[in-house]
Amino acid sequence: MQHFRQIGIIGSGAMGRGIAQLFASAGVEVLLHDSRSEAIEQALGHNRELLERAAAKGKLSAEALAASQACMSPAYRLQDLAGCDLLIEAIVENLEAKQALFRELEQLVSVDAVLASNTSSLSISQIASGCRHPERVAGFHFFNPVPLMKIVEVVRGERTAPQVVERLSALAEQAGHFAAVTPDSPGFLVNHAGRAFGPEALRILGEGIASAEQIDRILKDSLGFRMGPFELFDLVGLDIAHAVMESIHQQFYQDPRYTPSALVPPRLAGGLLGRKSGEGFYRYADGKAVLSEPLPMPAATIDRPFWLDSRDPAVREKVAAVLAVAGAELEQGTRPGPTAICLVTPLGEDASSAIATQQLPPERSLALETFAGFETRRVLMRQPALDPAVLAQARQVFTADCVPVEVINDSPGFIAQRVLAGIVNLGCEIAQRRIATPATLDRAVQLALGYPLGPLAFGERFGAARIQQILNALHDLFQEPRYRVSPWLRRRVQLGLSLTTPEE
Ligand code: NAI
Repeated sequence: MQHFRQIGIIGSGAMGRGIAQLFASAGVEVLLHDSRSEAIEQALGHNRELLERAAAKGKLSAEALAASQACMSPAYRLQDLAGCDLLIEAIVENLEAKQALFRELEQLVSVDAVLASNTSSLSISQIASGCRHPERVAGFHFFNPVPLMKIVEVVRGERTAPQVVERLSALAEQAGHFAAVTPDSPGFLVNHAGRAFGPEALRILGEGIASAEQIDRILKDSLGFRMGPFELFDLVGLDIAHAVMESIHQQFYQDPRYTPSALVPPRLAGGLLGRKSGEGFYRYADGKAVLSEPLPMPAATIDRPFWLDSRDPAVREKVAAVLAVAGAELEQGTRPGPTAICLVTPLGEDASSAIATQQLPPERSLALETFAGFETRRVLMRQPALDPAVLAQARQVFTADCVPVEVINDSPGFIAQRVLAGIVNLGCEIAQRRIATPATLDRAVQLALGYPLGPLAFGERFGAARIQQILNALHDLFQEPRYRVSPWLRRRVQLGLSLTTPEE
């Protein structure tokens, strides 16, 4: 395979300079261009400083520093890029501007030079449609900050030649980045796969189930996410995140799987954009989120026994252990005694449905999450008929071993079940539509989105059949196609196969 000799980068902003640093550090010659010459100077100065700092910290040898610096030069005129065999554009996100640039470059460079776009939302096939040789055009979508985010999407436009995809992938691997090859579809791979975490959290918030802070805490502590969805919205900027949600929803012709949240437009109008405007879902002071004080918990006397619907010995054992610490009794009968607090442990159902199905007394029945987070952040789910004194006792009992407890309102699938089921189902849909192989999908999501597991591996960890049960319950309750089960998931459950089993 032919390796690239010289890379021309057009657009020396945050992305262009990062891409230049990445390839120069890998020993490839890079020329940096921008329509504003001061942007080129700034980018080169910025990169030089980063490399020198790395050398000062001992992370880079003096030879490696000199070699990387020697690989990066300015190109003040577009014509200076004529000898490059790879051109990567990272200019403004505008279709006409990118098409015009590629047309101009085609006049300039040799016929076998490759033209790559770092666009995050525009169609590669559309950008290429303005070119005489669309087969040489591909997407090369990096993530910010480029040297640290060890992944790039190599996007195959409708007319892209296979060897262009292969050469870009090989270059990425040479620089230590994972090349996630994906077709030209809305959001490509990563932004598409990310459409469950934040959007489902917004749905939960919009349904009055829990506060943004609670949802963040539950998802971090029970599923291992490093950041909660609302912390992430505040970091990225709600305006940017919402634009991605709207664009993907539109490009999929209003498929309800991707419906954005109606909570967002008024927040945008109110300037609640996140960290950059000083307030989003959190308020920021000195760059730090101001967290609300936890409400004092009224002390309750534990004077009732507890009854648990689950017959699963593992679940009964862990619940009994906490009750024992609190000095409360777990009844053993198949039906609750006359004063018992009844705990239901639904999968996918809401508390009201579980209580009604099991014909339990509503004023002394509530739901306990046992699917995820029991050891790290416990979730109790009330329902409108619950006696507050019963809730107070349950809350006191479940904090007895010092695990924090969140009380949320009635929700199908609590919070962790519901968000996780959405992530897994969307991952299955991506595999089904051949947007990525199972292995590429899981690796790309971990690298780009920082999830503790990829969507399919997450499904395996918690059980594909259980994920399907949660989705079916959500679908039944809301009667919305948003929650329809992906055929990929359904078939693998039916056949007893792993979700990562690929298909021709
Ligand atoms: P930026 O605004 O920091 O930099 C863009 C640079 O392009 C500016 O220096 C501007 O002077 C220059 N420019 C604009 N039009 C030009 C033209 N016709 N010819 C030459 N130079 C031109 O933007 P940023 O954030 O670096 O984004 C660049 C591209 O990368 C966009 O397409 C964006 O969607 C995409 N992208 C951005 C990511 C991010 O996190 N910022 C992540 C992934 C992709």
